[in-house]
Amino acid sequence: MTEANEPGASALLDVFDQLALRPVRGEGATLFTASGERYLDFYGGHAVALLGYGHPALVAALDRQARTLFFQSNVVPLDVRERAAASLVRFGPPGLTRAFFVNSGAEANENALRIAFAASGRARVVAVEGAFHGRTAAAGAVTAGHERWYGFPSQPFAVSWVPFDDAAALAAAVTGDVAAVIVEPVQGVAGARALSRGFLAAARETATAAGALLVFDEVQCGMGRTGHPFAAQAHGILPDLLTTAKGLAGGFPAGAVLVGEGLAAGIRKGALGTTFGGGPLAMALVEAVIATIERDGLLERVRRLSARLQRECVTGPVTAVQGMGFLLGLRTAPPAKEVLARLRERRILAGGSADAHVVRLLPPLILEDAHVDELVAALKEMNG
Ligand SMILES: Cc1ncc(COP(=O)(O)O)c(C=O)c1O
Repeated sequence: MTEANEPGASALLDVFDQLALRPVRGEGATLFTASGERYLDFYGGHAVALLGYGHPALVAALDRQARTLFFQSNVVPLDVRERAAASLVRFGPPGLTRAFFVNSGAEANENALRIAFAASGRARVVAVEGAFHGRTAAAGAVTAGHERWYGFPSQPFAVSWVPFDDAAALAAAVTGDVAAVIVEPVQGVAGARALSRGFLAAARETATAAGALLVFDEVQCGMGRTGHPFAAQAHGILPDLLTTAKGLAGGFPAGAVLVGEGLAAGIRKGALGTTFGGGPLAMALVEAVIATIERDGLLERVRRLSARLQRECVTGPVTAVQGMGFLLGLRTAPPAKEVLARLRERRILAGGSADAHVVRLLPPLILEDAHVDELVAALKEMNG
């Protein structure tokens, strides 16, 4: 803030631990401050700036849609909403043919669980330790450390926790009273920890055997970030429900729940609702994001540059790299906080995680070789 308003320095509620930098403009993978400092952004505002800043295709789509029809709700059908849904289900795993649009990741998970409870008539959910699914009531209840996040007077339903990647514990927990098994195929907030294909396959099998629904939360790892449209496709495992958000509209609030025809047939009119979800500006951007990823071959770019990052970032303070695609965790010998501060001194932004020794990288899909060079050089200079 440049002006102090008493009694606080800002009219904003002071709930965020903020960085001491104030961006005023962004272009590509770069943020600029008022004084002209340039930061290479490997974090994208919690994985949201999927195609970086000011992407011409997104700016054009937003401008065109804003001039045509700024807003209408789901009370009317919209061509742009139907086009966005068609693009998203085509981009998504084959078999998930219907989309319900919302505004955020937590809202997507809230609705996915609502659908699972209604479809199964059951009331228990199985979740994986370390998971982050959001801060609303249902999403918070299946988020690790929910005692801390939760903030409501009581838990809305029973949750059983299984240790990370423990297929035997999962099989024991998924019994006939379980409505849903919810997993983040690559746990983001936990530090870019990828669940193994074996665990995800076991989750599919045990959920099917128990008549429970399998939910993949791809809010953070979806939309091309793994180098595949979704982790479901990377592993060839089809969940019953898939949620996504964050980069879905490249920086405009949007989330979605994808389901197959079988589940869709059982969801009656009025069972789900939203005012802003499926709004035309978000929908025009969803369509433009997917078209750009496909037209510019960005999934191949993610796979190629991720291989470089995984190989070359093991230098200086970094002892190992975990995760998939452009959702990577750099395991650091010193505390991640120190490494992040030293990267910021070198004008590079990255993220922390729940693991005090993991720096999280969530770069835009438009990243270039020169940006990888810059990060690797900065890490090298640090000398452990
Ligand atoms: C995997 C995952 N699910 C859900 C959420 C919640 O998304 P939102 O903050 O948009 O509600 C997040 C946010 O970090 C996330 O990483």
